[in-house]
Amino acid sequence: MKNELYAVVGNPINHSKSPRIHSLFAQQTGEPVEYTAIQAPLDDFAGTVKQFFEAGGKGLNVTVPFKEHAWALAEHRTPRAEKAGAANTLYLDQENDLVADNTDGVGIVRDLRENQKVQLQGARILVLGAGGAVRGVLGPILAEQPAALTIANRTVAKAEALVRLFAEEAASAELSACGFEQPAQPFDVVINGTSASLQGDLPPISGSVIGPDTVVYDMMYSLQTTTFNQWAQDNGAQRVYDGLGMLVEQAAEAFHVWRCVRPETAPVVEELRND
Ligand code: ATR
Repeated sequence: MKNELYAVVGNPINHSKSPRIHSLFAQQTGEPVEYTAIQAPLDDFAGTVKQFFEAGGKGLNVTVPFKEHAWALAEHRTPRAEKAGAANTLYLDQENDLVADNTDGVGIVRDLRENQKVQLQGARILVLGAGGAVRGVLGPILAEQPAALTIANRTVAKAEALVRLFAEEAASAELSACGFEQPAQPFDVVINGTSASLQGDLPPISGSVIGPDTVVYDMMYSLQTTTFNQWAQDNGAQRVYDGLGMLVEQAAEAFHVWRCVRPETAPVVEELRND
């Protein structure tokens, strides 16, 4: 069977792990998928997308800095993309209309729930950050029915805006916003969704949010322990995870959206750790 073409679009794109992840999925499932990386010019994301699909491409992943752009460009959005305000997955529907989806939230929830066996239902969760990355995952996290979810951010108004935006999804969960100085009690789960570590920074949060049973999840990943997870361990955390599992899970969900086939993620995470 002839290979069908997929790609990830970003700028820069040379460090993306998506081509490696999707070729491992293709190998594993036998799906005829060829997956490349495309660097779009910062001022012509739309042109890059148009050209890709006109040339017969089947699906795109979208990464920094184009996720909001992809959302705005699409003619249709899935409900989870609509709420996320950003898209990481694009494809054409039967009418050849561009559809935007977002698989990031499902990615973190699957990694926590299925891979790490973390119970989110009834949990008290602290989320650090209130930017695009956090907005992208709040819907699926709230769908797990935590008891409480606190969003702490440097700019408190942005956390408050997310609380208003997700009031309905929160259902019976206690959803609140605050600054970094406020949370002081141990949480069941602490998720770092800030981009502070990109500047080698830590969100200035009290170590007392970490108890011996706290699960810590950094949405960033790196070869070594991330700065945030190191801080958490120094404050007594015994269970820390980085975002590699989330990255592979969001990719698996996109693969499923495009191919209706769900790849196994555990062997792929293991391969990437050993790369
Ligand atoms: P992303 O798509 O990664 O979410 P973003 O929308 O720019 O990018 O959001 C970045 C998030 O990281 C925000 O919550 C930001 O805080 P502000 O809303 O106050 O800007 C947070 N952030 C970035 N650098 C940070 C730092 N050095 N310390 C603490 N928080 C930081």
